[in-house]
Amino acid sequence: MERVFISGVSGYIGGKLASRLIERGDVREVVGIDVAGPRTLSPKLRFFKRDVRDPIDDILKEHAIDTVVHLAWVMPAALSSPNLAPLMADPTSVLAMVKA
Ligand SMILES: NC(=O)c1ccc[n+]([C@@H]2O[C@H](COP(=O)([O-])OP(=O)(O)OC[C@H]3O[C@@H](n4cnc5c(N)ncnc54)[C@H](O)[C@@H]3O)[C@@H](O)[C@H]2O)c1
Repeated sequence: MERVFISGVSGYIGGKLASRLIERGDVREVVGIDVAGPRTLSPKLRFFKRDVRDPIDDILKEHAIDTVVHLAWVMPAALSSPNLAPLMADPTSVLAMVKA
């Protein structure tokens, strides 16, 4: 686990995980995507403002990612909101990530 990719890195768990991984000597780089701005800043963290439903093959390949943690999600209660519902990560995005 040297190069870790986190979807939803600006969220509660994603931010905490990124901070813990950044402290580890065996982790060289943490790469995160989110539709919201990052809550953790570090030279070891590369952040991309990207929707998890869009292709991310370029990021995974460019950064030679060996570990993927998928944490992008929208709270179920938010699904009734017309503004937040479109952000719900659908299963095809997870499959695309695994495939890449
Ligand atoms: N918070 C907890 O206590 C807890 C406990 C157990 C499990 N979990 C699980 O951990 C995961 C993350 O939870 P959390 O509390 O960090 O949630 P969170 O809402 O704090 O973070 C989710 C992040 O996903 C991002 N996001 C949403 N849709 C996106 C999209 N389409 N593309 C890119 N980013 C998108 C949001 O902007 C947000 O930053 C969930 O699967 C949740 O079920 C959380």
